[in-house]
Amino acid sequence: MLTGDRPTGPLHLGHYAGSLRTRVALQNVHQQTILIADLQALTDHAGRPRDVRRNVLEVALDYLAVGIDPSVTTIALQSAIPELAELTMLYLNLVTLARLERNPTVRSEIELRGFARDLPAGFLAYPVSQAADITGFRATLVPVGDDQLPMIEQTNEIVRRLAGLAGHSVVPECRALLSDTPRLPGVDGRKASKSLGNAIALSASPDEIRDKVRAMFTDPGHVRASDPGRVEGNVVFAYLEAFDSQREEVEGLKQRYREGGLGDMALKRRLDEVLQAVLEPIRSRRTLLARDPAAVLAIIGSGSNRAHDTAASVLSDVREVFFLNDHG
Ligand code: TRP
Repeated sequence: MLTGDRPTGPLHLGHYAGSLRTRVALQNVHQQTILIADLQALTDHAGRPRDVRRNVLEVALDYLAVGIDPSVTTIALQSAIPELAELTMLYLNLVTLARLERNPTVRSEIELRGFARDLPAGFLAYPVSQAADITGFRATLVPVGDDQLPMIEQTNEIVRRLAGLAGHSVVPECRALLSDTPRLPGVDGRKASKSLGNAIALSASPDEIRDKVRAMFTDPGHVRASDPGRVEGNVVFAYLEAFDSQREEVEGLKQRYREGGLGDMALKRRLDEVLQAVLEPIRSRRTLLARDPAAVLAIIGSGSNRAHDTAASVLSDVREVFFLNDHG
């Protein structure tokens, strides 16, 4: 099992619901590697390398705080495993420019960032580097949100191209492991994103949580508590569905909201309580761990060493396909 995160900012509740919870739940069942994808982060943050560097530690703290256990899960730094870069270089020859331009997730990210002619070539090609990440560990399961499905598809195309060239399977195909909360919106109802500032960080303070909940988009037509309201597209309900364990009560709230008689204030108060309870233990573990950054960096260091061994064996197999091991 393999996933990664770009260290471009703190991880948020969207990451938690979409992928982190699955990683924690399955870490004792599957052999898991998690990559802090700093090279991928540089594909659109090359002008701010210091931020990327700083966020490596933040992301590692988020992992440990949510319960990723470094004694069973390998936490590795992408840039510390040069084999992944070499794999990317080889895979780039198995992908056309037209195919890269078709990836719907990359397309929408390009639009969001307003790239035109100044689109970094590395950004367009990052799904190929992601294919290297996944296959570099012979991963078959990738716990991600649904925005990453196009990456899985592109990875499997490369895997098949490689098998075709070799005449036998070289690395396994993979599949996404989607959580039952495929995509959590940002507080404004748009896609949750670190850059839009509309997400709730796992490290958010109690006040930040309260303010973000207050600012949540509900139903603009629901003015008085007695008005009937819409549940679909209502961000508060999206979060309640993802984090409120009292499922039946949430169903009851939905019904009351639809019929009229449940105000946004009361609804948001409940969500605030739920989120405070989810994030409190995460925050206190994080605070504790943050006191010893050297220990966290040591975890990343030893994870990267372990990961390096696996990736080296995969790279050797892929080099073989291109007759690159024969020159002494
Ligand atoms: N693209 C992922 C993101 O945006 C990060 C990532 C890098 C990743 N390498 C990966 C995800 C490999 C799954 C598998 O957060």
